[in-house]
Amino acid sequence: MCGIVGIVGAEAVADRLLDGLKRLEYRGYDSAGIATDHDGAIERRRASGKLVNLARELAAHPLPGTTGIAHTRWATHGGPTTNNAHPHATDHVAVVHNGIIENFKPLREELIARGRIFTSETDSEVVAHLVSEQVEAGLDPVAAVRMVLPRLHGAFALAFLFKDQPDLLIGARLGSPLVVGYGDGETYLGSDALALAPLTQRIAYLDEGDWVVCTRDGAQVYDRDNNAVERPVTISGVTGALIDKGNHRHFMQKEIYEQPIVVAQTLRSYLQRMEGKVALPIPDFDLSAIRRVTIVACGTSYYAGMVAKYWFEQFARVPVDIDVASEFRYRAPVMEPGGLMIVISQSGETADTLAALRHAKSEGQTIAAVVNVPTSSMAREADLLLPTHAGPEIGVASTKAFSCQLAVLAALAANLAKAKGKLDEAEERDIVRHLAEAPAAINGALAYDESIEAMAGAVAGARDVLYLGRGTDYPLALEGALKLKEISYIHAEGYAAGEMKHGPIALIDEHVPVIVIAPSGPLFEKTVSNMQEVQARGGKVVLISDYDGVAAAGQGCLATITMPKVHPLIAPIVYAVPVQLLAYHVAVAKGTDVDQPRNLAKSVTVE
Ligand code: F6R
Repeated sequence: MCGIVGIVGAEAVADRLLDGLKRLEYRGYDSAGIATDHDGAIERRRASGKLVNLARELAAHPLPGTTGIAHTRWATHGGPTTNNAHPHATDHVAVVHNGIIENFKPLREELIARGRIFTSETDSEVVAHLVSEQVEAGLDPVAAVRMVLPRLHGAFALAFLFKDQPDLLIGARLGSPLVVGYGDGETYLGSDALALAPLTQRIAYLDEGDWVVCTRDGAQVYDRDNNAVERPVTISGVTGALIDKGNHRHFMQKEIYEQPIVVAQTLRSYLQRMEGKVALPIPDFDLSAIRRVTIVACGTSYYAGMVAKYWFEQFARVPVDIDVASEFRYRAPVMEPGGLMIVISQSGETADTLAALRHAKSEGQTIAAVVNVPTSSMAREADLLLPTHAGPEIGVASTKAFSCQLAVLAALAANLAKAKGKLDEAEERDIVRHLAEAPAAINGALAYDESIEAMAGAVAGARDVLYLGRGTDYPLALEGALKLKEISYIHAEGYAAGEMKHGPIALIDEHVPVIVIAPSGPLFEKTVSNMQEVQARGGKVVLISDYDGVAAAGQGCLATITMPKVHPLIAPIVYAVPVQLLAYHVAVAKGTDVDQPRNLAKSVTVE
């Protein structure tokens, strides 16, 4: 989950490579570096920490050269130091790498035994040495890379730069994405189309196992068997403008506030409002034959999937299995013929989810992908693309993508129910009406921002926080805890409210705030009973409910957050807002880096 950009060009590249890295910083911000070929030698500038440090280094020590490679790193092997920053280089070759070289240890030992000297702790440096050995032995760069690639196990996107070869870059892809960009008298490599957006819209996506030789005049792609192949050049719709925060202090805040618009935008593709009908953007697909659904995702997207499980089973009466992607593939899951697998992902590149998708595909499942990046690997490899229209999500903590995922999944559940004959016309009309109310209800929830901010201080001082919910509020409790821990670094756990008495209640004392998510409705009384069990033990409760719920159970709480009264179907979409805002304000109160929290990256392309 590092970012790669490369230019084989005719004009100075350092600034343009830096600009490309800015667009890729969401992939990691532990260190960054650039290498160019200049006057017959490879020159590098590298810096630990965020990109701004590399920009300073380049300002102090400009880097000439018209061909170069660049990298922003999310550390896997070796700490976030300058020495471990890419590009890794010998006198003959420099390389940037995204992914993990799983067999790097034996390769490193073998290279050391042959006298090679390593200067980093990374898995990536072996690649530079392996290729360099071949070049030093007299092979030309293309033959050297071709020779080395089969020796690398694991996942990688690689870009190579060679000494004294100003008209050459070589790229390779296995498991991690890499695109080729075609310009006028220049050719580019990038982790995604976004990185190359200001340079070119003409993009070709490399397939698994592909490698590519780029010169100023174009690129020749080879498949894993070294056959010359053509990959279609598409026109990317990604805009070249860097997205800014507008009037907001952080991208996360801006993205929370965008939710009414982007949820409305997303629902437009799935609802025919006037007709009172739900409709997928893939009208020909017959959902009636689906007997079982498997949902696989990671993190926040997984919690969206958990909410969807309630909906699919309740509305369509179709059994649903759900797994975190990193567990799915390795537990020998049983998948019956005729099954539908739904992968959910903001980025569409999460390596665990992508691996699960490929595994399920090889087992004959139909794959539906609920993804936010329509050009992503998952979007391209799925049988059915169900896009969310959240727009670019920059803050590392996922917010608007989550609510848009829920909107798509609710519409999908209704479609499945319809196809299964479990939804009559009146019920379908009702569902459409309730979903269409979601954007306004989110707006209503945002109106409580100031009161949430006012009470954030009470949570910011805590060491541990618990979140409780029942039914679809249980995944929201998990999401609330994830949001809080990732951006405020406060330890937080989400529990099904009814599970408290089976162990976690032992944690309760007056120092542990307990956030209870309980809209009034069929499960309200039961959740309130669990909340009172907490209060009876001195626990300090923050109740998030609607006016009726707060009136009925708000007494004796540390604080209450009042939401608009909404239909249970859209409650998870609406209640996501206070959960996000609470985490946001607690993080701001603690002074953490809200948009780029420590140790994380936006796109997780390693398993
Ligand atoms: C949490 C968060 C992560 C992602 C997870 C999956 O705020 O952002 O937990 O949800 O890494 O990412 P995608 O959705 O891109 O597959």
